[in-house]
Amino acid sequence: MHAIAILCSGGDVSGMNPAIKRFVEYAFAKTLTPFLVYDGYEGLIDDRIQEAHYRDVSNIITQGGTFIGSSRSERFMLPKHRKQAALNLKKRHIAMLVILGGDGSFRGMHIFYREHGIACCGIPSTIDNDIAGTFYCLGVDTALGMIRTAIDAIRDTAASLNRAFVIETMGRECGYLALVSALTSGAELCLIPEIPYDFKALTGSIKQQLHKGRHYMIIVVSEGIAQEHETIISWLQNDVGIETRLNVLGHLQRGGTPSVYDRLMAYRFITYGIDGLLQGEKSSVVCYGAERFHYRQVDEVATTPYEIEAELLALGQHVCTLGAS
Ligand code: F6P
Repeated sequence: MHAIAILCSGGDVSGMNPAIKRFVEYAFAKTLTPFLVYDGYEGLIDDRIQEAHYRDVSNIITQGGTFIGSSRSERFMLPKHRKQAALNLKKRHIAMLVILGGDGSFRGMHIFYREHGIACCGIPSTIDNDIAGTFYCLGVDTALGMIRTAIDAIRDTAASLNRAFVIETMGRECGYLALVSALTSGAELCLIPEIPYDFKALTGSIKQQLHKGRHYMIIVVSEGIAQEHETIISWLQNDVGIETRLNVLGHLQRGGTPSVYDRLMAYRFITYGIDGLLQGEKSSVVCYGAERFHYRQVDEVATTPYEIEAELLALGQHVCTLGAS
């Protein structure tokens, strides 16, 4: 029997535990022996690798974070530690490795494959949604849900006291979390690195809105412009003329029970990851294609019966038949 391992690297996301559960169960379905690497690349170097059983992954699908731990490993950047990591896998005959992480983790994975020939597969997992080539990264939907809950609550107090709230989301240099949160929370303004803003130009529009009855404001800003906080607050208080508070949401955005969407995406990402490795992918990342809007004629839409997409039906085959069909 071939052996396959999984590890989490970098910032945890809600969705890693459902992914690990699917990993173990799908590995068994493919007659592979699954191994869990604890604490990311650090655990890979220090040989914290254990064979997995169904019991290890029971009752984890509802939990945020990752029960096998993660790390931001400095040591994995050095060849001698990568060599040790490869030896730890090879002595267990593990020839395939699945890595849940972000682009930094994938760069390390690629060097590791080139040096030691262990086939690796990356599963995009970061709340920042900042990996090129994939429309979605695991954990984003749950993070957006946490942000929505926080903004909805802040809105209550903002409205009661006629204040402006500057709310900072995570995302490093990427404004995705802030932008989607602003659009879905009814924010009055959003400031992100990708779209230039000009306080002078904004002042007139906001003053006009306040004049016409707006009495509080939600301003979502992304971590990428954190250095601008003081300027934004002083602009709102002094130029716009509204009492302002700052709220940095911080790490609560990374927690919480995985959303339905993240559980489903975990299932899909892992299935494609293991399938890819078995089909000969050596150092690839599972990417999810872009969704787009388009128009269809109404008679076609109204007269065609809905069908669940073939890919989802194929994924569900096992849980509906337990392999009996
Ligand atoms: O990459 C995920 C992320 O949550 C970023 O949005 C944030 O800048 C960073 O990790 C925080 O890192 P740490 O948990 O190490 O403080």
